[in-house]
Amino acid sequence: MEKSPQTELLGPADVARAAQLLRAGQLVAMPTETVYGLAGDARNPDSVAAIFAAKGRPAHNPLIVHVDSLGRATQFANLPDAARKLAHAFWPGALTLVAPLREGHGLADAVTAGLPTVALRVPAHPLARALLAEFGGPVAAPSANPSGRISPTTAAHVMAGLAGRIAAVLDGGPCPVGVESTILGFEGEEAVLLREGGISAEQIAGILGPPPSARSDTKIAAPGQMLSHYAPAARVRLNVTEPKDDEIWIGFGPDCAGAALSLSPTGDLEEAASALFAMLHHADATGQPIAIAPVPEHGIGAAINDRLRRAAAPRD
Ligand code: TXA
Ligand code: MG
Repeated sequence: MEKSPQTELLGPADVARAAQLLRAGQLVAMPTETVYGLAGDARNPDSVAAIFAAKGRPAHNPLIVHVDSLGRATQFANLPDAARKLAHAFWPGALTLVAPLREGHGLADAVTAGLPTVALRVPAHPLARALLAEFGGPVAAPSANPSGRISPTTAAHVMAGLAGRIAAVLDGGPCPVGVESTILGFEGEEAVLLREGGISAEQIAGILGPPPSARSDTKIAAPGQMLSHYAPAARVRLNVTEPKDDEIWIGFGPDCAGAALSLSPTGDLEEAASALFAMLHHADATGQPIAIAPVPEHGIGAAINDRLRRAAAPRD
């Protein structure tokens, strides 16, 4: 791919410039409430190809299409009733819905990696919303990190991973949620959890009713869910209450008063999710092996533990 010699750092006053770059087929990293996304025009095959090239992402791993409303989403997919209910409850927000592509959708084929379905999300971050409004079309946006590495929650993280490979970064400050969106697919009207994320299983059950919609035996393809993912360069050990001398210990809650870093000193899971990737980036930069305290599995803790298990998984 052609390298952008210099990546522009844009701010909230530069949304029109960012939209102009998207219209010209260029890539712009944009803040969302979950993580920064690497945005390109979802209808333009060259832009979509450039996203895969900039990230080094395998072509079989499809992208999430970001739109400004449920109405726009229905131009691209046939949403089951259960999906519409969830969209009404949680959009704009940290929920991605996977549904069958609608005929005449106009999206570039590579966005869906040849699947008959498309992943859609309406983000809540004011700058993402402003960019989508100004651009006026669907934006494909995977997390703005080199494939397999930790997702970015600041503009500096994006620059560290992708500077020189993308046209611009729109700086909207740190991402408040801090873990990626929850992804749900549908077997008929039955929701199937494909990735834990910013909206908890409990919240989803609150709309669709119990039993919670988590199933692991689904036939729905979820090509991006490789085990080793979100990987720091350093070795990562989980559920550590007694760190070794050479390790940098990331604590959680008041029992870890001796830890160098803490996801949340008071044991607040939302705060921990928000801090998670920045702390992994920071710990990784020390070059020391990383040890992480136990994190409870309820609420957004499930998404935190999912990312931690992937960070600690053996690499090949
Ligand atoms: O919060 C988020 O979701 C962020 C922000 C930028 O929106 N985006 C994000 O994108 O995490 P990415 O590419 O890192 O993860 C998207 C996941 C991948 O695991 C991919 O396989 C899955 O969505 N996905 C996309 N289209 C799909 C489809 N049609 N069926 C099943 N999974 C799909
Ligand atoms: Mg990602």
